[in-house]
Amino acid sequence: MFEAATDKMTLDELRANRQRGIVQVVPAFPTQDGAGVRLLRSLGSRSLPELDPFLMLDEIRSDDPRDWIAGFPAHPHRGFETVTYMLEGAMEHADSEGNHGLLEPGSVQWMTAGRGIVHSEMPLRRGGRLWGFQLWINLPRAQKMMAPRYQDIAPDRIPEVALPGGGTARVVAGQAFGHQGPVQGIVTNPLFVDVTLPPGAEVAVPTVRSHSAFAYVITGHARFGADAMRVPRSTLVSLDKGDHLHVTSTGEEELRFLLLAAQPIREPVVRYGPFVMNTAEEIEEAVRDFRAGRLGS
Ligand code: FE2
Repeated sequence: MFEAATDKMTLDELRANRQRGIVQVVPAFPTQDGAGVRLLRSLGSRSLPELDPFLMLDEIRSDDPRDWIAGFPAHPHRGFETVTYMLEGAMEHADSEGNHGLLEPGSVQWMTAGRGIVHSEMPLRRGGRLWGFQLWINLPRAQKMMAPRYQDIAPDRIPEVALPGGGTARVVAGQAFGHQGPVQGIVTNPLFVDVTLPPGAEVAVPTVRSHSAFAYVITGHARFGADAMRVPRSTLVSLDKGDHLHVTSTGEEELRFLLLAAQPIREPVVRYGPFVMNTAEEIEEAVRDFRAGRLGS
């Protein structure tokens, strides 16, 4: 484990229970990845290249299989973690270690690529709509070359909590509303919650003050903290530091949003496609290792 950053807080600051506010609003923009999958990228774009330790957030949402059926054929990763969270449709996963699985609606796959893996992520034609997220989270220098690891979490393992002010929260990772998410042992100690609020409902989600955080509106409209802005769907807001995030559902329809928080790593980041390391030399080594088949095939 790397050392936890400890904030020196005065008693007054502790009492204040500081509320998080918006730093930046990032509307997701359409782009393509994999073998031609149309998706919406927010984090990892020019307007917000990273939010240490978060590197990328993509949303795939389309009823037209031509937008996603080509999928993400065999490709490598080294030096970070990829998280796939499915809402609708299904994705088949296979990798160079012999792992094979099906990601179904409501499930999450937390893959720690570590020193390297080659895998494929291929959507299945089921019903028509594919809707899901892929999040990339960095690893500290000391863990970049760890052995690859998976946590494949079935939907029923994710606690769904009824909120006092109405609505529900699924706790995927970290602790919220008295529940612990099933994803365990992640070095950046992440919080990952998926919150649904009826119109007019409010919620306060506690966060570790020093952790980086962002929220992403999936459907509906939200107000974050004391900010007056109504944030529409497919929009990410990066947040300042604080002990909790206050969210209000301001639209006519239900609000659904993701909240992610994690410990910043504060190390140099050099990224090249599917490799995220600390130096250019390590990137060159990753490319050499991949070409030589040392990441698997
Ligand atoms: Fe991948």
